[in-house]
Amino acid sequence: MLRIQHLSKSFGATPVFHGVDLHLARGEFVALLGESGVGKSTLLNCIAGLESADAGSVHIGGTDLSALDDDGRARLRRGTLGFVFQAFHVLPHLTVAENIELPLRLLGRPDAARVDALLHAVGLDGLGGRAPAQLSGGQLQRVAIARAVVHSPPLILADEPTGNLDPATAERVLSVLLTQVRETGAACLLVTHSEAAARRADRVLRLGTAGILAG
Ligand SMILES: Nc1ncnc2c1ncn2[C@@H]1O[C@H](COP(=O)(O)OP(=O)(O)O)[C@@H](O)[C@H]1O
Ligand SMILES: [Mg+2]
Repeated sequence: MLRIQHLSKSFGATPVFHGVDLHLARGEFVALLGESGVGKSTLLNCIAGLESADAGSVHIGGTDLSALDDDGRARLRRGTLGFVFQAFHVLPHLTVAENIELPLRLLGRPDAARVDALLHAVGLDGLGGRAPAQLSGGQLQRVAIARAVVHSPPLILADEPTGNLDPATAERVLSVLLTQVRETGAACLLVTHSEAAARRADRVLRLGTAGILAG
């Protein structure tokens, strides 16, 4: 589902990561660990085509990102990707339910029942009509998680999605991601500092200055 080869990225003269190789099969749930500032979010942005790498390649479902223009990458993201941003990026002028439904609307498949099911799954029953400004950080994080899986994308990228949650709620949203992977065969790359989350993963990888190391 995802193949990264020899990917390197610098900001100006500062190298972030170098020579990263990574392969994710369908149905794989992989945890990516690494110290703060090592480049985990940058790597996810490069995979999503939101930032361009300096060298190397990213293939998603067999498609080479570098062969697409901006529109092509946006189309690929819309249909193929669910992304939980570290900073949530919940849209302030839409309600909670509208935020969660957005990927479905962009695909021309609105589905209020699916939105309700996800509100329930992430523990936000009854909050669909609220404005994002009326939610706590932990609640916003769960809106971002529901939005990332609502359209059952084949590839899920989640950037520290349980970072603002208490252990019980973290466990609950982790189950939402795992269920999605097990039921739809999606591949999921989960950036996390949580030991509990890493234990649930099929594989644990670590990003360091030398690239990605297994285990
Ligand atoms: N847009 C940017 N411009 C310059 N430096 C950046 C930018 N984004 C991130 N960085 C730097 O790149 C490094 C990796 O950042 P990041 O990918 O956010 O790390 P992580 O997610 O592992 O904590 C950090 O040193 C950060 O300061
Ligand atoms: Mg980060």
